[in-house]
Amino acid sequence: MQYTSTEIRQKYLDFFASKNHAIIPSAPVVPENDPTVLFNTAGMQPLVPYLLGEKHPSGTRLADSQKCIRTWDIEEVGDNSHLTFFEMLGNWSLWDYFKHESLAYSYEFLTGKDNLNLDPKKIAVTVFEGDEDAPRDEESAKIWEEIWMPKERISYLPASENWWAAGPTGPCGPDSEIFYWVGESEFPPAGSNVENDEDNWMEIWNNVFMEYNRLEDGSLEKLPNQNVDTGMGLERIVATLNGEKTVYNTDIFDYIITKIEEVLGVNYEGNETCIRIIADHARTATVMISDGVAPSNVDQGYVLRKLMRIAIRQAHKLGFKGLFLSEVANVIIEKLWAAYPHMIEQKIEILSEITREETQFVETLEKWLKEFDKLVKWFEIAFERTGKKVDTIAGNKAFKLYDTFGFPLEMTVELAEERGLQVDVEGFKQAEKKHQELSRKWAEQKFKGGLADASQATTELHTATHLLLAWLRQVLGDHVFQKGSNITAERLRFDFSHDEKVSREDLDKVEEFVNHAIQAGMSVSMEEVPKQTAIDRGVVGSFWEKYPDIVKVYTMKSDSEVFSVELCGGPHVEKSEGMGRFKIKKEEASSRGVRRIKAVLIKD
Ligand code: SER
Repeated sequence: MQYTSTEIRQKYLDFFASKNHAIIPSAPVVPENDPTVLFNTAGMQPLVPYLLGEKHPSGTRLADSQKCIRTWDIEEVGDNSHLTFFEMLGNWSLWDYFKHESLAYSYEFLTGKDNLNLDPKKIAVTVFEGDEDAPRDEESAKIWEEIWMPKERISYLPASENWWAAGPTGPCGPDSEIFYWVGESEFPPAGSNVENDEDNWMEIWNNVFMEYNRLEDGSLEKLPNQNVDTGMGLERIVATLNGEKTVYNTDIFDYIITKIEEVLGVNYEGNETCIRIIADHARTATVMISDGVAPSNVDQGYVLRKLMRIAIRQAHKLGFKGLFLSEVANVIIEKLWAAYPHMIEQKIEILSEITREETQFVETLEKWLKEFDKLVKWFEIAFERTGKKVDTIAGNKAFKLYDTFGFPLEMTVELAEERGLQVDVEGFKQAEKKHQELSRKWAEQKFKGGLADASQATTELHTATHLLLAWLRQVLGDHVFQKGSNITAERLRFDFSHDEKVSREDLDKVEEFVNHAIQAGMSVSMEEVPKQTAIDRGVVGSFWEKYPDIVKVYTMKSDSEVFSVELCGGPHVEKSEGMGRFKIKKEEASSRGVRRIKAVLIKD
C-alpha cells in the first residue's frame, strides 16, 4: 500500500478531531513577536505561552500540522533524509489529558484499522530512564505494557535521548518515542529493541510530557499544569511507511523532481544530489516567501537569499543558464495550498518575488565569474612580474566567495582546477569552522533571550507596537498592515506595507500620538471572539487565515478615546503607566513595498 503525505496529514487531523481536539492552523514559519529565534523549528514553538499556562482560545486539546524550518544541517541536504523545511504533525494537551491518553491515542492512530493500520509487531518504544532531574518513567512503560507492548520492546534511555526541550530555558520534560521497524527482515527478531538494535528502528513519533520549566540558572521548576506535546515529522513518516530509504521517493518530492528534470532538461538519475538540493531549497524558499519573508542581507531574508542562491548555482552546475525557480515554485504551491490555503492567494506575489531575486542573482553570478577570472589574471600577472608562481587561492578568500555568494567550495575548486589553480581547502574549513562557532554563539545568545521571555521591557514594546501600527494607519492610510515584528528587550522593529519613505514630519506625528496614548492613562483589555465577528467589526490584523476560529482581540483605550483594536496573541501590559517616552530611531526600506521602523521606549 502506498501512503501519501496528503492522506496521512488529513487522517492525522481527522483522528484527533474525533478525539475532541480543535484543529488549529499552522503558525507562520517566522515566529510572531519572538525575537529569540529566526524560524519555528518545532511544532511546540508557537505554543510555548500556552504550555506555560496562558489560556488558548481554541481550548485544551489541539492538533495541527506546523510548518517548521531548520537550517543548521543545510550542508547535509542532498542525502537521503536532511531537509530544511518540514511539516510537524502534533497533538497537544494543555492541562488536559496526560500520559495515558496520549500514548493510547498514538497507538490507536498507528495501528487502528481505519487509521494507519500498522502491524503492532513492528513497533517499539523508548521511555526516560531517570536522572537527578526527574524520576524513571515507569508510568509510561506500564501504560505501554497495558496497551499492548511486550516488555522486550520497551527501552529505558537517558536524557540525551528521552528528554525534550526547545532551548536552554522554557517548558520541557521526559518523552516516550515510538519507532518503526525498518530492518531487512519483514518482522523484527525476538528481543530486538531500540537500545540493542538502533539502526533497524526508525523514530516516527515523539510524545513529550511537559511538566517542567527550565529556568535561567539551569534549575527545573514544576509547571502548574501537565501538558502533552507530540511531534511526528510528516516527511519522515511517509517515507518510512512506504519502506523508502529517502523522502525524495515520496509524493512530497516526486513531482518537484519531475518538474526540475523538465525545466532544466536533465535526468534525476546521475544528478540526484544537485536536484535534491534544488527541490528542498525551492520548497523552503516558497514557504518562507508565502509567510512574508523577503530576500535581504539579514535575518530570515538572508537565509532565504542563501537558499535560493544555492539552488540557482546547482542548476548552473547542471549546465542550465536562465530562470527556472518560479516554475518549480509554481508546482510546489499547487501541491501545498490544500493544507496551507494562503499560499494560493499569494501565488502571483510569491512567483514574482522569486523571479525578481533570481534575475538579480543570475546577473551577480555572471559578474562573479568575471571576478574569478580577474583573480586568475592577477595570479598570471604576479607570475610574470615576480617569476614566483602563485597557484593557490587562500582559504579565507574561498570562504568569502561561499558565504557571500552561496558558492559551494567545490565550485571554487572546480573553476580553479579548470585554470590550473588550487584552493587551500584546509584554510577554507578553518574559516568555516570559525564562522560556525560565531554563528552558533550568536544563535545561542538569541535563544537565551528566552523563548518564553515575556519580560516587562518586551511586553511594553509589544504594546507600543500596537499603538505604532494604529497611528501609522491614521497618518499614512489604511493600506498600512503589519509585515513583520521583532522585539528585543532594547527596541522594537516593525515592518509594514507602505511604498515610500515616511517623512520626518509624519514620523513626528506618529510619535506624538503614541506618546499621547501612553500619557492618557491607557488601559489594555483582551476579549476572545469568533474570527468572523472580529472581521466584521473591522479589527486590524494581517494573515487572518492563520488564526484559529476564536481569536484574541486586544483593545487599548483611555476613558474617552480608543487607540487601537488589534488581533494578537499577547502578551501586553495592562496599563500604559510606566512605559516611558516613545521614540522612533530609524525609518528605512525593508524590502519592496515594505518599510521598517525601529523605536524605543525611553524611561526618563
Ligand atoms: N517537541 C517535540 C519534537 O519536536 C514533540 O513535538 O520532537
